[in-house]
Amino acid sequence: MKALVVIFLFVVVYAKHEQYEGWKSYYIGPKTQEQLQAIGSLAEEFELDVLAYANLEREGVVLVKPEYQDGFIKALEERDFAYKIHSADVKQSLEYDDIAIENRRKENLARNGRELPYDNYQELEVIEDYLRHVASRYADKATLVSGADSFEGRPIYYLKISTTNFEDTSKPVIFIDAGIHAREWISPPTVTWAIHKLLEDVTEPDLLERFDWILIPVVNPDGYKFTFTDTRFWRKTRSIDQNVTCPGVDGNRNYDFYWNTVGTSNNSCADTFAGSRPFSEIETRVVDSLLNEYLDRIALYLTMHSYGSMILYSWGHNGTLSDNAINLHIVGIAMAEEILVHSLPHFPTYLVGNAVLVIGYAASGASEDYAHSIGIPLAYTYELPGLSGGLNGFHLDPRYIEQVSRETWEGIAVGARIAGDLFVKK
Ligand SMILES: *[C@@H]1O[C@H](CO)[C@@H](O)[C@H](O)[C@H]1NC(C)=O
Ligand SMILES: *[C@@H]1O[C@H](CO)[C@@H](O)[C@H](O)[C@H]1NC(C)=O
Ligand SMILES: *[C@@H]1O[C@H](CO)[C@@H](O)[C@H](O)[C@H]1NC(C)=O
Ligand SMILES: [Zn+2]
Repeated sequence: MKALVVIFLFVVVYAKHEQYEGWKSYYIGPKTQEQLQAIGSLAEEFELDVLAYANLEREGVVLVKPEYQDGFIKALEERDFAYKIHSADVKQSLEYDDIAIENRRKENLARNGRELPYDNYQELEVIEDYLRHVASRYADKATLVSGADSFEGRPIYYLKISTTNFEDTSKPVIFIDAGIHAREWISPPTVTWAIHKLLEDVTEPDLLERFDWILIPVVNPDGYKFTFTDTRFWRKTRSIDQNVTCPGVDGNRNYDFYWNTVGTSNNSCADTFAGSRPFSEIETRVVDSLLNEYLDRIALYLTMHSYGSMILYSWGHNGTLSDNAINLHIVGIAMAEEILVHSLPHFPTYLVGNAVLVIGYAASGASEDYAHSIGIPLAYTYELPGLSGGLNGFHLDPRYIEQVSRETWEGIAVGARIAGDLFVKK
C-alpha cells in the first residue's frame, strides 16, 4: 500500500513540471562592471529568467529555455564570462523540491499536528487560515482586512496590528509586503513570522507598544496560487487585458514612478511587462492606497523578494542617491548586520546599497522607489537568501524557511527601532 502511494505521488509530481523539460539554469559571475551591465541585454536577447541578480562579488542565477542553450553559452564564452551549471535538469530539480516539501509537511504534521505558514512552502489557504486564526485569537490587537479582490476574485488580505486600533496617530507605522512576485515563495513566510512574533511569541513588546504595523503576506494571491497549480516560475499577476497577447503584469514594474522607462518590457509575454498603464493592477493599487492612507505615519517600508541576500534602496530607476541616502544606508547596514548575527555560517552575507549600484542595472516602477518618491523616508527591497540547501533541489530547502524568517525578523526589529528614532512626523 505504502509503495503504491509513493509511486502515485511521483507520477503526479512528474506530470506537473513537464513544461520545464530541457530547461537548465546557470550561475553567472560577472568580473567587470561591463559584464555586470551586459546581463540585462543578454537577458533580453535570450529571454533569460533572472532568478538571482549577480553582483561583482556574487554569482547570479539565470534560467534558460531549451531553444537558447547553445546561443546563450556561446554568448557567455565570447564575452569571457565565468559560468557554471546550477541545474542541468530544472524539471527534475523541481520534482526534488516537491518531495522535500512533502516530506517536510509530514514531519510538521507529526510534530505539531497542524501546518504553519512559516514552517514550509504553503498553499495560499494555509496562509489565509493562519491570518483568520490570529485575527480572531488576538482580536484586541489584530484586524484582518481584504484590501480588494484580486483580478481572479481572491481577497488581498492584510493584517493591521496595533494596541490602539490605529487611533494613536502619533505612533509611526511599519509597513511590510511580500509575495508580489508569485514564485518567490520564501517571501510570504517572513511576513507571517513577523505576525507570529508580534502576536503569538512576543519577545520584543516595545515593537508593538511603539509602532503600528501593516503586514501583507501575499500581495499577489492569483499568481501565488498559479505557481502551485500550474507554472512554478510564474512571477506576474494573472490579469487579462484584451489589448495584449499574454496574461499578467510584473507588479514590481507597475508602480507610478518613471513607469515603463527602464528595465521593463512592452511585450506582455515577458516577465517584466510593466502593464498597459501605471497601476493597471488591482494588486498594486491596494498597496498604493494603503501607502497613501498612512503616508504621514509610515517610518519604514519593506518589500520582500528573493533571492540574493541583498537590501536595496533608491533610486532604482537611475542609480542616483536620494536626499535621504545616508539614513537609508545606515539603517540598511544595521538591518544586515543584525541578520548576520543570527544567520547560519553557510548563508551569504547581505549586500546593502543603491539598487543600481549593487545589481548593475536599473528598473522603473518598483514599489520601493515609488514609496520613497511619495515621501516614505526609509524604503527597501529585501532579496532574501535562496541558496539551494539540498543536493538536488532547485530552491531554498524548506527546512531553512524558519531560519530565514527568524533572521529576517531580527533585521526588521532593528530597522524598525532606528526608523522610529529617526522618524519626524509630517
Ligand atoms: C484597450 O485599448 C483601448 C483603445 O486604446 C482602450 O480604450 C481600452 O481602455 C484598453 N483596454 C484596457 C483593458 O486597457
Ligand atoms: C514601450 O513603448 C513605448 C511606446 O512605443 C516606448 O516609448 C518605450 O520606450 C517602450 N519601453 C520599453 C522599455 O521598451
Ligand atoms: C534620478 O531620479 C531622482 C528621483 O526622481 C532625481 O532626483 C535625480 O535627479 C535623477 N538622477 C538623474 C541623474 O537624472
Ligand atoms: Zn521579486
